[in-house]
Amino acid sequence: MTFARIAGTGSYLPDNIVTNRDLEERVDTSDQWIRDRTGIEQRHIALPGQSTVDLAEQAALRAIEAAGIDATDIDLIIFATTTPDKVFPSCACILQARLGIQGCPAFDIQAVCSGFVYALATAEKFIRTGTSKKALVIGAEVFSRILNWSDRTTCVLFGDGAGAVVLEANEEAGILSTHLHADGRYEKLLHVPCGVANDFDAVKAGQAFVEMKGNEVFKVAVNTLGQIVDETLEANQMQKSDIDWLVPHQANLRIIIATARKLNMSMDQVVMTVNRHGNTSAASIPLALDEAVRDGRIKRGEVVLLEAFGGGFTWGSALLRY
Ligand code: UT7
Repeated sequence: MTFARIAGTGSYLPDNIVTNRDLEERVDTSDQWIRDRTGIEQRHIALPGQSTVDLAEQAALRAIEAAGIDATDIDLIIFATTTPDKVFPSCACILQARLGIQGCPAFDIQAVCSGFVYALATAEKFIRTGTSKKALVIGAEVFSRILNWSDRTTCVLFGDGAGAVVLEANEEAGILSTHLHADGRYEKLLHVPCGVANDFDAVKAGQAFVEMKGNEVFKVAVNTLGQIVDETLEANQMQKSDIDWLVPHQANLRIIIATARKLNMSMDQVVMTVNRHGNTSAASIPLALDEAVRDGRIKRGEVVLLEAFGGGFTWGSALLRY
């Protein structure tokens, strides 16, 4: 059996840091409220002119180096983002050219905060079926560009960044299962209500902003993530105690704690970046994964659960042996 194994990880955060105190100057909020309700202390925000592909390129180069391969060995690029550089071509195609790769399939996936898990699951299918041997999977965002910086209910939550993995065909270890779901009935609880084909004037006026009914999203997220944990364990006939690491989407510390509790996991087994990164949407999981791989916490052979929930609603998980 061929598995899709993570051969290398990489990530990149823009240098510019915005603290909760900085936000106190902009909107009616407080460092205390943001910490208490979300766990966030600061976030990285791209400078004007820094694009999603700019961040992704750095993350991709680091993942390629960690995998010990040449960029030209890559035969598939899947790029998860909600904040693409252009309407088209895709970020995947723009990145492909920058990496000096030609000919392999390259496409974007839009599943908001679940985007990386969707992209990973898709790449895994290509590898398992023998269609690809080395896939570059990216989650990258400049979410700051779709935030209304006068809306305290959203602007304090998000940040920018990029994460990447190289997946390669391997006989021994790798992704054990992936689980993807969506329910479009929840569209209006978390969305940007305009786009190219709907109220394009708002886009042109620079008013394509995230709107979220945070409290309602919170409740669905906690329940749904609990269910997907059960689904993932059952599919692999594993017990909670078989999981070594939880690498969750980093939206809110309270959501992460609820999922860890559901798994009877100690917070020492949970990779946490939300305090320093905020919610970087599709980038949050590969950013956290890269951090824990590079600092030596996640070791080869350990069992890692990735899970995400986001706009759509979309949600998903991936269980892997690193
Ligand atoms: O990644 C995609 C998925 N997204 C999520 O999973 C996010 C899920 N939701 C959440 O993380 C939380 O719901 C939030 C952090 C967004 C909000 O926390 P909450 O505990 O659900 O607060 P709330 O929305 O119920 O608001 C409580 C109060 C309100 O005031 P009143 O009505 O009680 O007077 C808000 O107006 O907090 C107020 N508030 C703020 N106060 C200070 C909302 N935002 C702020 C703020 N600073 N930034």
